[in-house]
Amino acid sequence: MMEGHVRGQYEKEVAVVTGGNRGIGLEICKQLASKGVTVVLTARDEKRGAEAVKNLASQGLSNVLFHQLEVGDLSSAARLADFIREKFGKLDILVNNAAIAGSKTEISNPESFKLELAGMNAQEKLERIRRHTTDPYDKAEECLRTNYHGTKIVTEALLPLLHLSSHGRIVNISSRFGLLRFFSGEELKKELNNINNLSVERLDELSELFLKDFENGQLEPHGWPVEGGYPAYKVSKALANACSRIIAKKHPTLCINCVHPGYVNTDMNFHTGVLTVEEGTRGALILALLPKGGMTGAYLDCTEVASFVVAVVTGGNRGIGLEICKQLASNGITVVLTARDEKRGAEAVSTLGLSNVVYHQLEVSDPSSAARLADFIKEKFGKLDILVNNAGITGTTSNVGDLETFRQELAGMDDLMERIQTINKHITEPYEEAEKCLSFLFCSPHPMEGLLTCHLTMDYSGSILLQFFSGDELKEELNNIDSLSEQRVDELSELFLKDFKDGQLEARGWPKEGGFISYKESKALANAYSRILAKEHPSLCINCVHPGYVETDMNFQVGHLTVEELS
Ligand SMILES: NC(=O)c1ccc[n+]([C@@H]2O[C@H](COP(=O)([O-])OP(=O)(O)OC[C@H]3O[C@@H](n4cnc5c(N)ncnc54)[C@H](OP(=O)(O)O)[C@@H]3O)[C@@H](O)[C@H]2O)c1
Repeated sequence: MMEGHVRGQYEKEVAVVTGGNRGIGLEICKQLASKGVTVVLTARDEKRGAEAVKNLASQGLSNVLFHQLEVGDLSSAARLADFIREKFGKLDILVNNAAIAGSKTEISNPESFKLELAGMNAQEKLERIRRHTTDPYDKAEECLRTNYHGTKIVTEALLPLLHLSSHGRIVNISSRFGLLRFFSGEELKKELNNINNLSVERLDELSELFLKDFENGQLEPHGWPVEGGYPAYKVSKALANACSRIIAKKHPTLCINCVHPGYVNTDMNFHTGVLTVEEGTRGALILALLPKGGMTGAYLDCTEVASFVVAVVTGGNRGIGLEICKQLASNGITVVLTARDEKRGAEAVSTLGLSNVVYHQLEVSDPSSAARLADFIKEKFGKLDILVNNAGITGTTSNVGDLETFRQELAGMDDLMERIQTINKHITEPYEEAEKCLSFLFCSPHPMEGLLTCHLTMDYSGSILLQFFSGDELKEELNNIDSLSEQRVDELSELFLKDFKDGQLEARGWPKEGGFISYKESKALANAYSRILAKEHPSLCINCVHPGYVETDMNFQVGHLTVEELS
């Protein structure tokens, strides 16, 4: 063990930090080393790097060693990989920190400029710096080469060594400027957000296209981020973010995440940042020291999870909804678990114990509750990527006597239909329950940008489901999406309830046989509604899914599938 080496939990871990000779990178080296991690501090300049290591050693941190690394240079990255392989045989943590601003700022007297900025907030400071800044092409090119290609080059060189760790982690130091909200082109935003269709090769192409548009003065018409300046920095960080997500998907055993450090007092912003380097490295430290199986593909805004993908799950406090929340969250998605009951919702969130699941109240049949949820999402995330409309009720009341005995009776039946028929004998379908069942339908949050709606319904498509309807005309109407409107679906819901009240269900062709009448009706209307919405919003993916007969409270826990199997 080296002299001054800190013993502890992380003693056997090895980290590489790029651009470690100053600013945030240097502080990350210091923090990791003081936790006992062996740190390979890298810098493009031998002298600056060696000085930084000497400086840390003088603070008692002798578990830091230097290796040269120019991040944009393939052979430099390969030499670093050889060194790590030979010396340690594996790598546990890679922090991709090195970056440049990609612009030219000329401040004649930095000291008086600092005084001029004193008392201003972060936004005002950035605007004032901007007045002294230009964006020449050569800087833009260097910026893409360092921030995007450099991150990729180092990651690719060290990935094999990260796989030799018991749980490799990559931390990409990103920036708020890399968020897609700075892009003006909707198509470009969508393409960069849709990781499932994106490849690293396409990101390389986009990097080329950006530089070409830069040279030809075509940034604005082609939707690149122009307003507020720093276009190359913004694009480089957005491409690095997308690359991080693609690699996280490809390497699910590693934890690969991004973090925006905040506006940190470093050379990059002429020491005008509002956070100290200690404060600016907290998020990076969380990600660097994630436990095995920790989150991946996510994005921290300082220390808070602000994932790239945000999902809302209705009725998320138990059953299928809770499992969907769990599965989405374990895939790095920020989940807003909603429940009508505050206490049950909060309990579900704490049971999951995942930092990227938040609770929000939602009674799906209450438009004002849905509007409050929409406001919350707009404010907190600015967008929604996934909506899972899961909340539902059966529209029945049951009288099964002792629940456990009833469950055992059902569990003894192999035949699914036999189970359902037995349940049928114990249920009644009062009008009030039918009304509640139908009211679950139409108050789900309205589609927002990038929204994917997924109704959990009785069967795969409206036409299959309609087999439960006895009236052919009704079936045809509900199946013929081209002539159906949202208003007509609302009307049909009203008509159904009226016929229910008047005892006219059978006569009018509504589903009657086999019970669960309003449940069938509500799901058939939800399917039709989903298909209408899908047609109206062709840029969104709006689909229905029948989860199977899943063990949940809805069927007295006697489904054929477990909640894990459904996902
Ligand atoms: N400071 C902020 O407010 C802020 C906000 C958001 C995001 N960030 C991000 O935080 C990270 C660190 O920024 P910082 O504020 O600490 O910046 P900084 O003080 O300017 O330090 C940048 C570091 O990157 C190194 N570097 C630049 N190009 C390199 C290359 N081609 N190869 C190897 N190393 C290279 C620099 O080395 P040299 O000394 O040789 O130049 C330096 O060590 C960056 O990714 C930045 O985008 C910072």
